[in-house]
Amino acid sequence: MLRSKTCGELRLSDANTTVTLAGWVQTIRDKGGVLWIDLRDRYGITQLLLEDGQTAPELFTTARSLGREFVVQATGTVIERKSKNPNIPTGDIELKVTELTVLNPAKLPPFLIDDDTDGGDDLRMKYRYLDLRRNPVRRNLELRHRMAQQTRVYMDGQGFIEVETPVLIKSTPEGARDFVVPSRMNPGEFYALPQSPQTFKQLLMVSGFDRYYQIVKCFRDEDLRADRQPEFTQIDCEMSFVEQEDVLNMFEGLVRHLFKSVKGIDLAEVPRMTYADAMKFYGSDKPDTRFEMKFVELKGTFDTVDLTSGKGFGVFDSAELVVGINVPGCAHYTRKQIDELTDWVKRPQIGAKGLIYVRYNEDRTLKSSVDKFYSEEDLQKWAVQFGAKPGDLMLIVSGDSAKARKQLNELRLEMGTRLGLRDPNVFSTLWVLDFPLLEYGEEEARWFAMHHPFTSPKPEDIALLDKEEMLGMVRANAYDLVINGTEVGGGSIRIFNRDLQARMFSLLGFSDEEAKAQFGFLMDAFEYGAPPHGGLAFGFDRLCSLFGGSDSIRDFIAFPKNNSGRDVMIDSPSAIANKQLDELKIATTVPTK
Ligand code: AMO
Repeated sequence: MLRSKTCGELRLSDANTTVTLAGWVQTIRDKGGVLWIDLRDRYGITQLLLEDGQTAPELFTTARSLGREFVVQATGTVIERKSKNPNIPTGDIELKVTELTVLNPAKLPPFLIDDDTDGGDDLRMKYRYLDLRRNPVRRNLELRHRMAQQTRVYMDGQGFIEVETPVLIKSTPEGARDFVVPSRMNPGEFYALPQSPQTFKQLLMVSGFDRYYQIVKCFRDEDLRADRQPEFTQIDCEMSFVEQEDVLNMFEGLVRHLFKSVKGIDLAEVPRMTYADAMKFYGSDKPDTRFEMKFVELKGTFDTVDLTSGKGFGVFDSAELVVGINVPGCAHYTRKQIDELTDWVKRPQIGAKGLIYVRYNEDRTLKSSVDKFYSEEDLQKWAVQFGAKPGDLMLIVSGDSAKARKQLNELRLEMGTRLGLRDPNVFSTLWVLDFPLLEYGEEEARWFAMHHPFTSPKPEDIALLDKEEMLGMVRANAYDLVINGTEVGGGSIRIFNRDLQARMFSLLGFSDEEAKAQFGFLMDAFEYGAPPHGGLAFGFDRLCSLFGGSDSIRDFIAFPKNNSGRDVMIDSPSAIANKQLDELKIATTVPTK
């Protein structure tokens, strides 16, 4: 070993021992007669000391030739520091250097390797290996490691077997877009990278594995956001002979174990909400339940209430839905602040036509932007419906139901952020249950599986599958785990009967031939004794970023892609040589660089 200790472990109790450290030069302070070097490795920082009269002059020469990030080895005696640094664990000691060797010089790094760096995103991504030297980034990966370890501890303890499934698989039309890989040995044919190991884990159940899990890379060619990467990791799980309740309990157990073992948090029982309620009260299937501000309808689709029509306000009269939120303590918002909020909801990303407000003043008077149409008495009724108190501000949108709910969801989240109600160190978990089985794609004019085509309808809703007009009402045994408004996991009880699976494909617009060609292997397997089964998958990157208190999963992936799906460090994707294209029998369409 080139070192006997790490830079993070020496304490006062090590005084007078001789040790060898190795690491990177963080800083050098040269006061002429005394010179200090902060030496850094993964474990911490130790101060090295060179002193006139005590340290050999040639060591001063070596020390003065060092630059930031040089890799050095230092041997010396551990001594008590004269002026201690209470901010670091090694702050009581320093190393009086007797030998100093440069193991490798370094170019000046393009940005500061420090907790607060001067490097912009692009630069740090290009030199990700330097970014990873920084404490906050390294800590994120250490957290990820602990989460993976603890996942394995829990899953193993529950009798789950980790099985690897293939990465070169078959392209299927459902779900997101596939990444495909050409096959040299089968010219003109392609593998696809798995969007998830869904069909394989179901086959493992047919094989009798009973409890499977895998921490596995998945690939989806979709538009990227802060919580989406083209390659990401799932904790993928499946169990046999279970009902929905068993799956929920098992994986609530995993989440509880992770919170306890990684963050020391005792998680309360995870509350449950139906999809219908989530949409009704939050306008989202992944509500952020760290704060209330539930939707209140003044004219609704769910309730029969109509407190707005017939007063001459055409916008509300013609609206399918009039819905709002009560923002506590914000009646003092100025006209300017409300105008700014109105502009905010009118941005194309949100798309609202406008925003109506009602101030419930401290003196119990009510002031709204629609005073022309609604009397104080009308507004009182609204305030009662909203459960508003003096000092509150009611914000209301209207229009087409689905759109208005979506817009109000955005506004609710924005107000939560503005009011500081979305503390990343507070965790609010939620199971969302009873998702619809199918959703209609207007553009494609066909039904799509809301979760995936292998999800089982609720047994009591199966009869509805016969009625075209009822298809949207069929509920699935499907569930999502939501933490702080992020969907961290989702799963379902599966179809395990060939006929029902065939029926499902037919509803999704597959001909019998297409279904057989794409998924014949699974339907065949169902005829050889498939047990009832179900499972779920957690988005591991999302779970890690939540635990780390960040919105961006990129911070928790060692070598992530940017928002255009590029790895700017290795410069990928990139063109390949014509020779490779020829071998793959792929026509050259793009000139190589
Ligand atoms: P689903 O498609 O819901 O289910 O994915 C499971 C979880 O994976 C995470 N996730 C992502 N994370 C980062 N980047 C992405 N592009 C991305 N896409 C999804 C989410 C999501 O909840 N086979 C089913 C699971 C099952 O039914 O068992 C599946 O993949 O956190």
